[in-house]
Amino acid sequence: MLETTLSQLEASARERIAAAATAAELEAVRVEALGRKGALAGLSKQLGALPPEERARAGKLLNAVKAELEALLASRQAQFEQEALRARLDAEWIDLTLPPPGPRPGSLHPLTQIQTEIEDLFTSLGFAVLDGPEVETEYHNFDALNIPADHPARDAQDTFWLADGNLLRTHTSPVQVRGMERFKPPLRMIAPGRVFRHEEVDASHEHTFYQVEGMMIDREVSIAHLVYFMKLLLACVFRREVTVRLRPGYFPFVEPGFELDIQCLICGGSGCPVCKQGGWVELLGCGLVHPNVLRMSGIDPEEWNGFAFGLGLTRWAMMRYWVDDVRLFQSGDLRFLGQF
Ligand code: PHE
Repeated sequence: MLETTLSQLEASARERIAAAATAAELEAVRVEALGRKGALAGLSKQLGALPPEERARAGKLLNAVKAELEALLASRQAQFEQEALRARLDAEWIDLTLPPPGPRPGSLHPLTQIQTEIEDLFTSLGFAVLDGPEVETEYHNFDALNIPADHPARDAQDTFWLADGNLLRTHTSPVQVRGMERFKPPLRMIAPGRVFRHEEVDASHEHTFYQVEGMMIDREVSIAHLVYFMKLLLACVFRREVTVRLRPGYFPFVEPGFELDIQCLICGGSGCPVCKQGGWVELLGCGLVHPNVLRMSGIDPEEWNGFAFGLGLTRWAMMRYWVDDVRLFQSGDLRFLGQF
């Protein structure tokens, strides 16, 4: 009879394990069948009343049923845990490609970053940072820089003229003229700012771009001073020692005038597409300020002289960040700007 009861108990427990819909139901089955006061425990108490040889057989049987039910319970339990985990993973899934909530952290425009670095450098060297109007007089943009009305250099800097005879400045040199007019030498200044030219826009030309120009007027300023400051400037922006060379270059407001080249930062001078295989890249114009320019701004060229330089900040930013299309800087495209 014990065997019959046992097999009934086994059959009903199997069925209920299979039918359990929740972990709680399963646990109830376990308690009823295998718990300390459960059915199997009850049966095993009856074993003692059996004759020894039957007791051994029934005991074995009972243990086998117990082991089998335990295994069934465990596997059903594992199924419930799996399902619970899957449900949780579905519910708690996070899309890591979504932008985080809240405002996005901003950053300074790359041109602003470089301009600020240059300003910090020159400020630390005793230079003033000067500002001036973007709508300039013809006098300050051209005449005072030794470029009279009939001078061919005006063609190279064609610009936007206003009906009143003023113009959008083609360089920040007029800020230096204003600086010389206003401050007595010795003086050191830089003039960063936006400039305009009548240009066909393409990947390397913009009608609106940024420059930093600068000058130092003192007694017996030499080309050695100029080269020294330019090397500091280049090391600051390109964050390494650069090799420079001066070539003669013509600008009406300096004499002598130079184009300053640096050994190509990409190939180190061996020749590549960036330096057009030449090994050198032209980075700025410079020279010693022309006596006419000093005189026109009220400075005696017998007593004072100085160096001046001018660079295209936009072009420098292209070199520093390897940007191959100048138009990106003013595109307002956050995918571009977010990289800096
Ligand atoms: N003003 C010149 C330009 O815009 C740059 C320059 C400045 C060259 C000073 C020489 C000396 O092209």
